Amino acid sequence: MNRIWWKEAVIYQIYPRSFMDSNGDGIGDIKGITSRLDYLKYLGVDVLWLSPIYKSPNDDNGYDISDYQAIMDEFGTMEDFDEMLAEAHKRGLRVVMDLVVNHTSDEHKWFMESRKSKENEYRDYYIWREGKDAETPPNNWGSCFSGSAWQYDEQTAMYYLHLFSRKQPDLNWDNPKVRKEVFDMMTWWCDKGIDGFRMDVISMISKTEEMPDGPVTDFYGDYSPYCIHGPNVHRYLQEMNEKVLSKYDIMTVGETPGVTTEQAKQYAGEDTRELNMVFQFEHVDNHGKYGKWDDQKWQLTKLKNILTRWQTELYGKAWNSLFWDNHDQPRAVSRFGDDRPMYREASAKMLATCLHMMQGSPYIYQGEELGMTNYPFQSPDEFRDIESVNAYKEWCLSGEVSHEDFWPCIIARSRDNARTPVQWDDSAQAGFTTGTPWIAVNPNYTEINAKAETEDPNSVFHYYKKLIALRKENPIMVYGKYEPLMEDSEELFVYTRTLDEKKLLTVCNFTDQEIDFTIPEEFVGKSCLIANMENDYSKKEITLRPYEAFVLI
Ligand code: GLC
Ligand code: CA
Repeated sequence: MNRIWWKEAVIYQIYPRSFMDSNGDGIGDIKGITSRLDYLKYLGVDVLWLSPIYKSPNDDNGYDISDYQAIMDEFGTMEDFDEMLAEAHKRGLRVVMDLVVNHTSDEHKWFMESRKSKENEYRDYYIWREGKDAETPPNNWGSCFSGSAWQYDEQTAMYYLHLFSRKQPDLNWDNPKVRKEVFDMMTWWCDKGIDGFRMDVISMISKTEEMPDGPVTDFYGDYSPYCIHGPNVHRYLQEMNEKVLSKYDIMTVGETPGVTTEQAKQYAGEDTRELNMVFQFEHVDNHGKYGKWDDQKWQLTKLKNILTRWQTELYGKAWNSLFWDNHDQPRAVSRFGDDRPMYREASAKMLATCLHMMQGSPYIYQGEELGMTNYPFQSPDEFRDIESVNAYKEWCLSGEVSHEDFWPCIIARSRDNARTPVQWDDSAQAGFTTGTPWIAVNPNYTEINAKAETEDPNSVFHYYKKLIALRKENPIMVYGKYEPLMEDSEELFVYTRTLDEKKLLTVCNFTDQEIDFTIPEEFVGKSCLIANMENDYSKKEITLRPYEAFVLI
């Protein structure tokens, strides 16, 4: 067993805009983060991943960067950042930066130059093509944020590619100058002392030279075969590893939409010299008739099947990252658990148990440790996210589907669910700001907030704190081999972990029903490592209450 710090770490994701506002302008900021470091230390996490804090016109809340070496005005200054980093390090907390280099903002200097003329020295930093004819873009690829992935630019009468919003032009990674700029910028951050990178849509950086039309589906142009896991993606990551990553003791996690276990073994292989781990999305991609917009829950056997496949196929070959939610996903407890008041706490703890006992590095998204829920949206005017705003237009305002049909689906999945402010206490605006927050606070903050939960030893917060502490004392949680049990059960998620002579059993009831359960012979009478309710494990036959979870060892 080769011990590695980022395998043993628990990572906490901060979405700075919604984390903590220090100056009353309603927008979270870096000083706000610094002011809450003691809270994060108390929770016990090891690494903080910050969603982008760089200069940005905020078309996509900082995922559209106009200067990689400057801080967004609303978030503060580089001095604020340096102070935050130093304060984090003082507390033994590491800091991982978001690296968004599939695209820049259209307000980045490179793009402003690039669009000026075909001869400009930055022209080839981006992907320019002639249209099929005056009115038709080069191909049928769609943008992730609705509409075509191509934007016509009058100055040179050509189209540029943007897989996300038209204010996020894709960089041309085939240009060695682009790679050098990116690697130099990464080196600059590493030399500042940061502890790693989360790499935004890194599986999309290499596009096929020919750029043919994608297969036509129900959804706007399907580009995936041509720009996800493109021809040179592994070559470019190996080059990045050689030129930058290998020189520092940092952790890397690639956001890799569309990744399979086979590809993950390449991206995050033990010996492939690319990244440490990837985010895969199979377990959050239960799409329905309106694509990602859907309000149905997973059938439990399907969810287990996916997670089990990732656990077993990566074992010993690559490393998993474990998550239920992030800034692009609805709240975990609302989606996978049960956010009705009588079940919220139990199901939030159950989900935490299920995830943290699997093999991989667990990620906690801000507020998840409090069991924060989805927001009760009443009207589309409440959306702030470009993806939700555009999707509502594309599907509903176009007349394609009725508001009645679409509404439950969009509010179930809107990324804004995760972006409402962290609920710190029960004062006005949940203690997030003294001003008017940029996005509404969830009205349940009077019940669900950090102050109440840190004071209550039985809270979701304290349950997370305990899970994180257990990881430090039990290498089996990190290195043990996973094996599923009861794979056909639609109610229970049951698995074991084994390390040398040690073995642990995790049992999670994913339903609001009582379920009878037979403890496997070898675990009867074993001790309980953690549980979200009390039960008698000395008996072979027990009855689990709704959302009950426990671990025996
Ligand atoms: C990633 C980010 C998401 C962003 C997109 C474009 O998926 O997580 O928030 O909108 O990339 O950068
Ligand atoms: Ca602020």
